[in-house]
Amino acid sequence: MSTSPWWKHAVIYQVYPRSFADTNGDGIGDLPGLIARLDYLKALGIDALWLSPVYRSPMVDAGYDICDYTDIDPLFGHLADLDNLISQAHNRGIKVLMDFVPNHTSDQHPWFIESRASRDSRKRDWYIWRDQPNNWRASIDGGSAWSWDEGSQQYYLHFFLPQQPDLNWHNPEVVQAMHEVLRFWLDRGVDGFRIDVVHCVGKDPTFADDPRCLAGETMVQINDQPYSHEVLRGLRRLVDGYPGDRVLIGEVNIRSTAQVAAYYGACDELHMSFNFPPLDAPWDPVVFRLCIRDVESLLGAQSAWPTWALSNHDNRRIRSRYGGSLRRARAAAVMLLTLRGTPFIFQGDELALEDTVVDAQTRVDPGGRDGSRGPIPWAADPPHGWSGSAPWLPFPPDAAELAVQVQQASAESTLTLYRQLLDCRRKSEALRLGDWQELPSHPQVLAYRRHCAGDERIVCINFDQREHSFPMSGHWRVDVASDTVAANQPFNGTLAAEQALILRPAEG
Ligand code: GLC
Ligand code: CA
Repeated sequence: MSTSPWWKHAVIYQVYPRSFADTNGDGIGDLPGLIARLDYLKALGIDALWLSPVYRSPMVDAGYDICDYTDIDPLFGHLADLDNLISQAHNRGIKVLMDFVPNHTSDQHPWFIESRASRDSRKRDWYIWRDQPNNWRASIDGGSAWSWDEGSQQYYLHFFLPQQPDLNWHNPEVVQAMHEVLRFWLDRGVDGFRIDVVHCVGKDPTFADDPRCLAGETMVQINDQPYSHEVLRGLRRLVDGYPGDRVLIGEVNIRSTAQVAAYYGACDELHMSFNFPPLDAPWDPVVFRLCIRDVESLLGAQSAWPTWALSNHDNRRIRSRYGGSLRRARAAAVMLLTLRGTPFIFQGDELALEDTVVDAQTRVDPGGRDGSRGPIPWAADPPHGWSGSAPWLPFPPDAAELAVQVQQASAESTLTLYRQLLDCRRKSEALRLGDWQELPSHPQVLAYRRHCAGDERIVCINFDQREHSFPMSGHWRVDVASDTVAANQPFNGTLAAEQALILRPAEG
């Protein structure tokens, strides 16, 4: 048995709770809904789930604006439901990761209300107040990162919406308060955290104008300060004090793998970091080859364990980004689940859902990110397993055909493909932990070998709309095929258009 920590072997599934499953008929997914569907996740074969925020929140940024870090918003349930989720998930061998949002609170958080009350409030310095703004630009609405507070006659800093004031992590009381938040959840048994925009917590202490903001960039894209690393080392020490390989996965939303690599520190910062260049990449083998080589060389050089994510709640879904093609979405799944590192499946990608179509009336997110947040269709017939009121966003296209109930019953469905891929991964140490080596191939074919002490798999992905030959010496059998056509057959040396295969050595 391998001694690597669980998260290196794991496949992690992102649950966006408001769109997962509803039990009380208000059209918003909730914790009891998630608990009721844990057997679905167990059957899919995931090892851990990351739960997007369920804390108390005015929901201006769908829960990423938190007004109480240690309670559950009534929309999603109660603290007791979260405890129940942890124990029910653990009973099924599924770990639970919470979303930790350290950079900012809601403007309705009692800390900010106290901070803004007056210039000599005890919590004034918990946030970042200045007499003069600089040119820093905020994300989501792209406006100034500073808002004027009429009452106390100063500007406060916010890298996101004005309703999301940034905390001042240079203040030791803030550090202590946020450490207590982590302890609160760790003591309840959570297995780790996905940390929201962790590269943003340290701020340039000189508050100098940034020329890149003049060119339209936002601070979230470029903020990269030594102090963020000090904050992370503190979080890591805390988490390492708990038994059971609790894990810190950071969202380092800087589009540079080299910068992302720095946030692993010397094994004393993040255990894993999201890396966004592959998530931005078009369906192009040249771009993916470069992304993967970057990860292998830059992360590999410091033994930093990679992650792979091809979509999430802030970006378009896999299938929509790759032109709506089901074949591509399925080939991409083979790639996602066979690269070296820990893959993240965004809920609904296992159904090959496309983005929900949102018009001016149905639009909810001020950042225009509703598309990937559509509700999961559980049943074929409307309302697709969502009783009572219509869900908070429209269903993705083709909800009836793509519903879980339909796909569960079909050997050819994308859901079945994901199950096969997870099963294949579970059975192959090479796929989970083995090294990665690129193989020569046609430029439109991305091919690699995964290898680990006597176990070996070859993965080949044809990005082209034409068939290509992929000659291999020796005898190989198809383990999983993205289009299920050739599964379990001897490999004949040909890849169909937009087909991806996992090959294993043929015995005997
Ligand atoms: C992260 C989240 C995003 C949110 C932002 C502010 O990027 O993924 O949804 O709007 O942080 O918290
Ligand atoms: Ca509900």
